[in-house]
Amino acid sequence: MRAAVLSLGSQSSKMIAEAMNKYFDVVDHLSLKDVEVAFISDGFQVMCDGKLLGEYDCIYARGSFRYASVLSSLTAALREKTYLPLHHNSFIIANDKFLTQLHFLRKKIPMPAAYIAATSSAAKKALENLNYPVMIKLPQGTHGKGVLYAESYASASSMCDALVVLKQPFIIQEFVETAGTDIRAIVAAGKVVVSYTRTAKKGEIRSGFHSGGVCTLCILDNETQKMAVKAAKALGCDVVAIDILKGPKSPLILEANLSPGITGISKASNINVADKIAKALYDKAKEFKLIKTKNGFGEVLRSIDKPKPSYEIITNLDFRGERVLLPENFVKMADLKDDKEYIIKAKKGYIIIKDSMLM
Ligand SMILES: Nc1ncnc2c1ncn2[C@@H]1O[C@H](COP(=O)(O)OP(=O)(O)O)[C@@H](O)[C@H]1O
Ligand SMILES: [Mg+2]
Repeated sequence: MRAAVLSLGSQSSKMIAEAMNKYFDVVDHLSLKDVEVAFISDGFQVMCDGKLLGEYDCIYARGSFRYASVLSSLTAALREKTYLPLHHNSFIIANDKFLTQLHFLRKKIPMPAAYIAATSSAAKKALENLNYPVMIKLPQGTHGKGVLYAESYASASSMCDALVVLKQPFIIQEFVETAGTDIRAIVAAGKVVVSYTRTAKKGEIRSGFHSGGVCTLCILDNETQKMAVKAAKALGCDVVAIDILKGPKSPLILEANLSPGITGISKASNINVADKIAKALYDKAKEFKLIKTKNGFGEVLRSIDKPKPSYEIITNLDFRGERVLLPENFVKMADLKDDKEYIIKAKKGYIIIKDSMLM
């Protein structure tokens, strides 16, 4: 099987590409900066360094928020042909704190409460009703650079004024007291492969590695683990770091990072994180190839798209012996086919039949 890593050349990307050599026959490590996506009349064309991008069974595209549009269009263009661990929408959602907040809210994934205001006076109204401290964040940016800590109404209010003058949109977020720590869980193929606490350096609130934070391995309780996996799934990401705040109440998701650095934790632990990611990519790519061969193109679209409408009736069941016949129009609406595989779940009082390819 052939794989490519498209990245900005970080050490973490190199480590993963190298680890992938153990599983894939060919691994090309290409520069994201050389990629262009051409929108032509009958579709897309992906070029790399002036040439058509080769055929791959797996393309792992990584990059910073500045490359979100190119990463999103690249993965949207290739999604029927190649296994891509990150859903094309996830680049846009995860790289924007407004959209992350909205998306996780819809998917019932708990985050710290947040406020968005269009004007300075609306922001101040919101600030008047909050408990302090609060965090004020720019929607885009990483490494803690766009994150401000406001201890009081006075400091929050002056920060908001400055941001409005600079025409800079911002989000006000409830501060969660965690003694300067957050938890990062790296999820690969639906499992947490490593989890660690990041502790902010003295005098800092931001616990990320780039703000001087240090990593220590930790084991997550079941609830937190499930929440991290659910957040990864909600974004349609098979490889992603989920950041979690464990405050006095239940855990809250802070954000998702689609190109997590793995050098810090690889050094601080004896876990071969690169290998775990590489193996997950291989297993998922193999699964994708199998389904593609079985079903033909276009059937393997993983989706975090809008929920489809659902229908309900109250009726008696048509029993044939011990079996139940489903109403024909419901079978059609659900698009059930005899050549597809389904997961059937039963509990007292109900049955769920689900396409095994649906997330
Ligand atoms: N609401 C919050 N409550 C407590 N700490 C926070 C909160 N938001 C952010 N932090 C701290 O600031 C760091 C950076 O914030 P984050 O939203 O992850 O921004 P970035 O995208 O720049 O990493 C986090 O890792 C965490 O330590
Ligand atoms: Mg962060």
